[in-house]
Amino acid sequence: MNHEPCVVRILFLDRDRAMTEEILFRLGNRFEIYTAQDIYMAVRIIKRVRPGIIVSEINLDEINGISFLLKMQSLMPNIVAMLLTGEKNPDALAQAKEMAGDIPILKKNIEHPELTRILTAAVELYRQRNKSQEVPAQKMAEKPVKPGTCSVSVEEDKGREEEMVLKLVKEIQIPSQPKLVMDIYREIKKKEPSFSVIANLVSQDAGLAARIIRIVNSPYYGRPTPVKSITHALTTLGINNFYKVVLTASLRELMSKGMDAKDFEKMWNHMLMVARVSEFIAIWMRTSVSPEQAYLTGLFHDSSMCFLLSKKAGYRKIILEELKCSHQNILATEMDFIGNNHAVIGGWMGKEWGQPKAVYTAIRHHHNHFPPTSQKSDDAELWFVLRLAEYLLDTILVDKKQESLESFENQGLEAVGFTASLLQMYQLKADDILNLMNDIVDIVEL
Ligand SMILES: [Fe+2]
Ligand SMILES: [Fe+2]
Repeated sequence: MNHEPCVVRILFLDRDRAMTEEILFRLGNRFEIYTAQDIYMAVRIIKRVRPGIIVSEINLDEINGISFLLKMQSLMPNIVAMLLTGEKNPDALAQAKEMAGDIPILKKNIEHPELTRILTAAVELYRQRNKSQEVPAQKMAEKPVKPGTCSVSVEEDKGREEEMVLKLVKEIQIPSQPKLVMDIYREIKKKEPSFSVIANLVSQDAGLAARIIRIVNSPYYGRPTPVKSITHALTTLGINNFYKVVLTASLRELMSKGMDAKDFEKMWNHMLMVARVSEFIAIWMRTSVSPEQAYLTGLFHDSSMCFLLSKKAGYRKIILEELKCSHQNILATEMDFIGNNHAVIGGWMGKEWGQPKAVYTAIRHHHNHFPPTSQKSDDAELWFVLRLAEYLLDTILVDKKQESLESFENQGLEAVGFTASLLQMYQLKADDILNLMNDIVDIVEL
């Protein structure tokens, strides 16, 4: 009988975020890794994604890591548990070994190839322990991934991911890009686009035309005199900015359908704000990707959540619960509930809608702490802009202006994935980001 392999999830629990993120960065392509900095976060991840392998630091704040792993083993006898330690004192190490019993202890400074070898063996061990629970391929396709049998076959996982995305997309009925928007885009991209053709196309949809005029006359565009017609809007804004407004107006219409009005306003304000800040950052950084692309990425980045909120029963409740605590585990929560997450679905949707590769790749990775490519590229640059926009907006909106400057300094950029080497790649210093945040406060207040 054919067996469909599923992913064995690995949880690393360590107070040192830099260390767990380094592991995620080095080995994330090969294994499905989750990281936690404290016991509470670890328990939430365990409940949601049921990792097959748990690697914990010995010295945790709340409990000894050995006691924690022993407890987990008693609850889930099939898991593979391992300890991590930076301890050098031989007596302390001998004592830890005695307490740990059968649980192997790894040194924190272990080389990554060695760690890869150990994790691969652990995956194999987990597979052996769970052999009786293997699920036939046909059955696997019918339900979300749950750890059971395992394999680290990237290609097979990709195939299954695609299949699950398609199933979910069908279920929540993600619409295709509106034809009118596509027609306008085609005209705009011509060598010599015609204003009258564009104006005529927009006039086919009176609702869209009215929404466009409303957006152009909003305080954000700061028009001294109101714009009264589509042709006037076109000549005032220029073709690229006009297209941005068309997209904003049509996306708003599309996403609001079937959604609770309050939920929609919240989501929409967030995406619109991220779009404007992303555009601002792109101009400020003089990125190789255009400010329009940055705006587009921001506007679309969480759009799949709107479709999930309106079509997937139960999604609203779990997401609201998650957002009450933090955004940290939102992907894990979604994974557990829908067998996928909004970043993957959003990236898929962007691709289907014919958005540029850098746009849908940035959306696909927007909750990751590491760029989609380690080298400088349009994909990585747009990811950086989007991540920075979300981070700065969160900091400003949660802490208010004055306090945010302090918490920004205290928290440090490293903690959210903006490592020194990443900032260096874009020739930025922490002070530059602080100045940028001051400028962004003005956009938020508009
Ligand atoms: Fe977001
Ligand atoms: Fe998101």
